[in-house]
Amino acid sequence: MKLIDARRDLYRRLAHQEGYRSRAAYKLKELNKSYRIIGPGFYVLDLGCSPGGWTQVALELAGNRGKVMGIDKSFVEEIPNTHIIRGDIEDESIVEEVFDYFTTKVNAVICDISPQVMGTWAIDHAKQISLNYAASKIMDHVLARRGNALFKVFDGEYSNEFRDYLKKKFVKVQLKKPKASRKTSSELYHICLGYLGA
Ligand SMILES: C[S@@+](CC[C@H](N)C(=O)[O-])C[C@H]1O[C@@H](n2cnc3c(N)ncnc32)[C@H](O)[C@@H]1O
Repeated sequence: MKLIDARRDLYRRLAHQEGYRSRAAYKLKELNKSYRIIGPGFYVLDLGCSPGGWTQVALELAGNRGKVMGIDKSFVEEIPNTHIIRGDIEDESIVEEVFDYFTTKVNAVICDISPQVMGTWAIDHAKQISLNYAASKIMDHVLARRGNALFKVFDGEYSNEFRDYLKKKFVKVQLKKPKASRKTSSELYHICLGYLGA
């Protein structure tokens, strides 16, 4: 995006004014308004959380009876009242750290994961979907029955296969592009409600 466009970017400006670390915060807010992926008192795991916009919103939605943990490969500056760890979601042993924090299963897993993009669409898309499969493996360990999930996908060749995979795991799976997602971006969001269990 050109700098001039960025200045005009409503959500970016809003994020700055309202103290959110990313414009992505508004995507979660918008989707949650329609689908209540996260409710008060929820335990929420945020995969690929840096710089922390979704983590901030998850904390607001879960409230003081809830608990929020974020994981990212990159450094994330501390967000008070949440637990952030540096880790790779492709390493399944991270599940232990998730249980160390929550001591029980969680009510929602949210995943906004993006690989380092190479600029070659087929490769970026395949890598992003592969990260989503890794995230859903973690989810299978930690998500409670009837829990909810949210996955970003870079839309492409393998999107339908991933959606069908999710459909077997949830009562309802809905595909949405929130207004806060740039029209030029091929990202879409799978809202997954009512986990059926691993
Ligand atoms: C679009 S950003 C997430 C933005 C975040 N939802 C927010 O609102 O601030 C995607 C993140 O996925 C992370 N990521 C990519 N591969 C990862 C991996 N294997 N394990 C953990 N995090 C990963 C990146 O480091 C990046 O911070």
